[in-house]
Amino acid sequence: MLKTFAVIGDPIDHSLSPTIHNAAYRHLDLECTYIAYKIPKTELETGIQSLKAIKISGFNVTVPHKIEIMKLLDDVDESCKLVGAANTVVNDNDSLRGYNTDMDGFLEPIKNREIPIRESNVLLLGAGGASRAIVAGFSKEHAKKITIINRTITNASTLVEFAKDLGLESTAVSIEDSDKLNEDYDFIVNASSLGLKNEPNVIPKKLMNSETVVYDIVYKPVNTELIKEAKKQNSQIIYGYEMLLGQATRSFEIWLEQKAPYEAMKKAIMGGF
Ligand code: ATR
Repeated sequence: MLKTFAVIGDPIDHSLSPTIHNAAYRHLDLECTYIAYKIPKTELETGIQSLKAIKISGFNVTVPHKIEIMKLLDDVDESCKLVGAANTVVNDNDSLRGYNTDMDGFLEPIKNREIPIRESNVLLLGAGGASRAIVAGFSKEHAKKITIINRTITNASTLVEFAKDLGLESTAVSIEDSDKLNEDYDFIVNASSLGLKNEPNVIPKKLMNSETVVYDIVYKPVNTELIKEAKKQNSQIIYGYEMLLGQATRSFEIWLEQKAPYEAMKKAIMGGF
């Protein structure tokens, strides 16, 4: 049976999700298609009605709808409840069930490398939707402390409260004060949009060494200024495309109830650069 899937968001034209999912369908000879559908911030409800009208089988949700979509879902899984946002939806005869594959998608490359998270000290740049899923992920894996560094300190403070509620130690620091950071961090993660437009790195290089894992969730460009600096300091690198692949394979498996063709999807991503 022909199934149609989509990614909704605004902007949406640069999304790699259609490329990744359609490559998986082609690889497995599945009669499915995956489209990008632009829904502006104020038109989410009518947008979802149109998706129901075309009998969409499922869809991914990206900026700016990940939190708002929660109100339009009939049912959500545990990861959505924890993060407070959804990025994957199943449509079962007009009944919508939400999942959040960002959290486990983020953790997957760390686990693949067998890097321990328990009791770790984390520096996280950014305090938006993606950062929330990452804080939830670190709490699930029993990290010790997370320092949130952000342009807008009030947003960082809100995330600090969220982290504390989940049992992590947490403090907020503004980007201007980044020079004052002097702890030993096991993980340095960029979950802000910084890097997408080749902006300079704002994380002091003195915080990076061969013991540090530097993880940038920005996947385009592959080598952000943060990643370039981390390479110079001999840190362990985790690339943004690895998280993209982690969440995409999980969405595929939720929708189609079969194993995702990881290598074919990875190849599609690499070809997309
Ligand atoms: P996402 O869902 O991808 O996390 P978001 O919720 O819009 O997107 O969050 C974007 C993050 O990138 C925020 O932490 C934002 O900082 P503010 O809280 O100050 O808005 C950060 N960000 C975006 N553009 C930035 C810039 N030019 N400099 C520094 N931080 C930036």
